Amino acid sequence: MSAPATPRTVQAEILDHLAPDDPEAQRSRRDLRRVNRLMGACSILSARLRPAASGTRGTAPLHAPLRLLELGAGDGELMLRVARALALHGRHSQVWQTVELRLLDRQALVRSETLEAYARLGWRAQPLVCDVRDWAAAPVNGARYDVIVANLFLHHFAAGALSAVLAGAAARCERFLACEPRRSASALLGSHLLGAIGANHVTRHDAVLSVRAGFRDRELSDHWPARGWQVEERAAGLFSHVFVAWRDRADAL
Ligand SMILES: C[S@@+](CC[C@H](N)C(=O)[O-])C[C@H]1O[C@@H](n2cnc3c(N)ncnc32)[C@H](O)[C@@H]1O
Repeated sequence: MSAPATPRTVQAEILDHLAPDDPEAQRSRRDLRRVNRLMGACSILSARLRPAASGTRGTAPLHAPLRLLELGAGDGELMLRVARALALHGRHSQVWQTVELRLLDRQALVRSETLEAYARLGWRAQPLVCDVRDWAAAPVNGARYDVIVANLFLHHFAAGALSAVLAGAAARCERFLACEPRRSASALLGSHLLGAIGANHVTRHDAVLSVRAGFRDRELSDHWPARGWQVEERAAGLFSHVFVAWRDRADAL
């Protein structure tokens, strides 16, 4: 179901302005895990990451240790679920058994228990606490990544900042994958119904804003640097919008 094409509006979300130890923020981040389950985020991401490692379409597979960066990673719990799904799948492939993961977020939210859980899978995870706009604007002489991932993150940015963040990512990776709220009638309805799962007022407020700031059509492709890349953008499930980009020489996610 698609809503009439309402324009994208980006407004400040409450969670972004609460301290990490604020009880309302902690509750909202727990809600976020359930929201990600409802949106099928783990399945959407892992289904698109899997083929990148095994080398589909006759192109060369990626090699361990795979360098992975998540932008706006929050507490790192979603990527941990993705890591478990990929490690399980990866019993026949070494690529998902040895991963160098950076979890970028403006707030220091990743618990040591989460890092230990990654380590048990063979993933060396490290938080990278910075504003993504500073990261994107920095000279491109530092780390490069095989894959950069974002989940429920890009919708925070209005057009100018979004272009800058995506240009920064494109300069540093071979493949890019984003799963964002879809600006659709079904997603808007779902966001208004989050009280039914016991979500707190922060989550309920931010979910509606997130859908209004979400994406449809080719809105992310239009902000991605065109030259040398192939892109694909589409609805995923009832509530999500997925964007993938890969360098011309690389295989698709
Ligand atoms: C909606 S949460 C999503 C977290 C995680 N990706 C998930 O799906 O559970 C968005 C995250 O982006 C982070 N964030 C927002 N603006 C940011 C910025 N300018 N730079 C870095 N992180 C930012 C917030 O701190 C928050 O953890």
